[in-house]
Amino acid sequence: MIKEIDLEKLILIAGGHSAFQLLWAGVQQGVFDQLSENPGMDRAELCEKIGLQDYPAQILLTGLTALGLIRKDGDMYFNAPLTEQMLVSGKEGSGAPILGWQAQIVYPGLKHFVESLRQSTNVGLEEFPGQGNTLYERLTSHPGLEQVFQDAMCALSLQANDHLRHAYDFSRFSHIADIGGGDGTNAIALAKHYPDLRVTVFDYPSVCEIARQKVAEAGLGDRVSVCPGDLMRDPFPPDIDSVIYCHVLPIWSQENMLKLLGKTHASLPKGGSALIFNMMGNDDETGPLSTALGNLYFLAIASGQGMLHPWKVYEASLRQAGFSTIERISGLPLDHGLIVAEK
Ligand SMILES: C[S@@+](CC[C@H](N)C(=O)[O-])C[C@H]1O[C@@H](n2cnc3c(N)ncnc32)[C@H](O)[C@@H]1O
Repeated sequence: MIKEIDLEKLILIAGGHSAFQLLWAGVQQGVFDQLSENPGMDRAELCEKIGLQDYPAQILLTGLTALGLIRKDGDMYFNAPLTEQMLVSGKEGSGAPILGWQAQIVYPGLKHFVESLRQSTNVGLEEFPGQGNTLYERLTSHPGLEQVFQDAMCALSLQANDHLRHAYDFSRFSHIADIGGGDGTNAIALAKHYPDLRVTVFDYPSVCEIARQKVAEAGLGDRVSVCPGDLMRDPFPPDIDSVIYCHVLPIWSQENMLKLLGKTHASLPKGGSALIFNMMGNDDETGPLSTALGNLYFLAIASGQGMLHPWKVYEASLRQAGFSTIERISGLPLDHGLIVAEK
């Protein structure tokens, strides 16, 4: 049952821009990092550590306290347990890099949301000048922002792929193509967990370069390789028995997703598998909240055609592309799901 709105929630929505800026400032100024290292500091001590004067610090700390991100006990400040778990930089599972993407890409792009709705296209892309009609093409000429984006995806994938490698037995595959594989975070996690698995990361050349370095650092160059290309135009890597899309199919409309899955089907041998791993929308279009909020990015910025589609849309597209057995693996954390289909 979805809870209907109350006044507090309305205030939070209407002031969402301020709430986000407080959260981002908390990360940027190192408030959560400092309170993790030295819990119980008072404002004067915090001011010194985070390099702010007393007046702006008062505004920041009052906001973070009212949002429940930190707790004030007398004069002493502490991280809330979830803040300690998810927002401290450098901690395993930290979501801080995801906020970098929100602040530098999603936030400016969503200024154009209403106009994107009216024009049914990604008007927010004008914030990122360059060639191409998708954010991903544009990012190839913005190396700094491309790194911000890949760091965010890496953080999201690190949170999610722990569940991916346990959700399905990948040992039945010998060579998997990770299409739109980004910086290789998922490929590396799968290859580490499945010692006989080969993985090829397919992505734009500039992104493959980032992946190549990460793979080398992980010492997996013998089993994880990269294949630069455009997933819409160029052939997929040869000799594969499976294809995985991690956080990639939501970029596309159902029509383009169907084209991509048709190509996937043609690239696989009989018995080969296609896997789809990302946040899934409810089939009855009621949420969950994370995907409902995530959808705006796809319309206004990323491509102007995608969304975090409901499960049934992927399943219908797989069927239409010629796949037979289709398995839905639900209940994964962070509103993620996995769909496995066999040719
Ligand atoms: C949302 S990210 C997902 C990255 C990675 N799979 C993960 O889960 O962390 C989408 C990826 O698709 C890539 N991509 C988008 N359009 C592409 C295209 N036309 N050709 C190749 N790669 C593309 C982007 O560069 C980006 O790395």
